[in-house]
Order: sequence, then structure tokens, then C-alpha cells
Amino acid sequence: MTGTPLLQVQDIRVAYDRVDVLHGVSLAVEPGRITCLLGANGAGKSTLIRAILGLTPPHAGEIRFEGQPIQGMPTHRVMARGMACIPEGRKVFPKMNVEENLRTGAFLVTDKAEVARRMEQAYALFPRLKERRTQLAGTLSGGEQAMVSIGRGLMAQPRLLIIDEPSLGLSPLYVKENFRIVADINARLGITVLLVEQNARQTLAIAHQGYVLAQGRVVAQGTSQALRDDPEVKAAYFG
Ligand SMILES: Nc1ncnc2c1ncn2[C@@H]1O[C@H](COP(=O)(O)OP(=O)(O)OP(=O)(O)O)[C@@H](O)[C@H]1O
Ligand SMILES: [Mg+2]
Repeated sequence: MTGTPLLQVQDIRVAYDRVDVLHGVSLAVEPGRITCLLGANGAGKSTLIRAILGLTPPHAGEIRFEGQPIQGMPTHRVMARGMACIPEGRKVFPKMNVEENLRTGAFLVTDKAEVARRMEQAYALFPRLKERRTQLAGTLSGGEQAMVSIGRGLMAQPRLLIIDEPSLGLSPLYVKENFRIVADINARLGITVLLVEQNARQTLAIAHQGYVLAQGRVVAQGTSQALRDDPEVKAAYFG
């Protein structure tokens, strides 16, 4: 691990209805890298993301982005600092076309030329979306909707892109394509990624480092290689 983390989560506790579901979770996202967050259904992955974004604020612990405390801040202010999130379930606006959906990702940008530049960048990553730019997003296939939601996240040109289970419910071909694109976003655009996934094998193939969450606690952490070799991770995911 090198230098100051872009995002640092320190010992946070998050509760729903006063019952803790995160019991003191710490995590660091190094700039320029892909950090993954693995864990079974209900482990608390989305809750951790929601805590980072200010949607379910922690009642204890600390969250820093670029060294500055952000816990307790409203979500729009957190995002304005340079974070974008592609939420679980990749919600698109079904009655808006592809291009309108992408545009919503850059709602903070007033410079039209800049928006157009980012749009071209998104289309370069997803040529299929360019072909379908006037199609209503609700009529796209699941895989295409996943592309729209990733493209929309990119339109914000964040310093940290958080992606919650992009491969959930997609066919193997789309899953493979999605992982390739996430790796590309990191390698070619230099965007730091926090990737939440259940597909450990493919995730560890593109991530640099990661954390495994179980029942609201970090149970393993390290480089992707170390996690692949960890006997418990092996037993749980590659057994
Ligand atoms: N709004 C809520 N109110 C009460 N409990 C909740 C709420 N949201 C989540 N939980 C509970 O918190 C725990 C963690 O849920 P979370 O959605 O963070 O898991 P996850 O790791 O993202 O799982 P998945 O892989 O299924 O998306 C679960 O036991 C869940 O039932
Ligand atoms: Mg989840």
C-alpha cells in the first residue's frame, strides 16, 4: 500500500432500525487502482457503499475522501467532491433514451463542449450505445442497460467510481464484457474504482487489491493474489 488512500473508511458502524449491520469496518482505496469488495448476499457490501455516499450514515467511525472527513455530508455534496456510483440493479431512466440517460451523469457540468467530449468517450467504450443512442433505455437488453449505467457513471468523470454488482443477472458474455470495460476504465482513463462483486474469480482477475466482508465484518484483505491464495477465501469462493 502506498501514499494517502483516495478513500479511507475507519472502523464504521452502520445500523438499520438501531441494529448494527456493519460492526466496525475499515477499508482503504488506493488512487489509480481497482479495489474490490467481495462477500455473500447480506454481508453488508451495499450498506458500506451507502454509508460512503451518505445515504445510510455511520453512527461511529470515520470516512475520509482525499484526506477530508465526509461522513455526515449529504450525498450530493459527497458526489460533487468527485465520487460517482453505479448502484445495485443498474437503474436507468426507462422513458429516456440512451443519450438522455448518459447526459444525467454530467448534470453538474455546464460546459456543453465538455459534456459532448465525455459523451464521445462513453460511446468509444460502448459503441453499441452509440448505435442505440435514440432508443428508450427501458427497451434495451439487461446487458445494454448495464452499459448505460456504467456510461452514466463515467459522464461525471469521477475520481472514484463505485460500482455495485455490475454482473448480477447478466449472461456470461455480458459479464465478461463488463469486467473488461471496468479494467479499461481504470487502465485507460486512470479512474480509481471500488468494485463490489460476488463473482470472486473474475473480480480478482482485474482488481489490484480487495476486501472480503462477511456478516458486517472484514474477514480477509490484501492483494488480489493474496486473496486468491487465502485458504478461507479459497474454501468460500473457489472450493
Ligand atoms: N433498509 C434496510 N432496513 C433494514 N435492514 C436492511 C436494510 N437494507 C439492508 N438491510 C440488511 O442489512 C444486511 C446487509 O445488507 P446489504 O444490502 O448491505 O448486503 P449486500 O452485501 O449488499 O448483499 P447483496 O449481495 O445481496 O446485495 C442484510 O442483513 C440486510 O437484510
Ligand atoms: Mg448489495
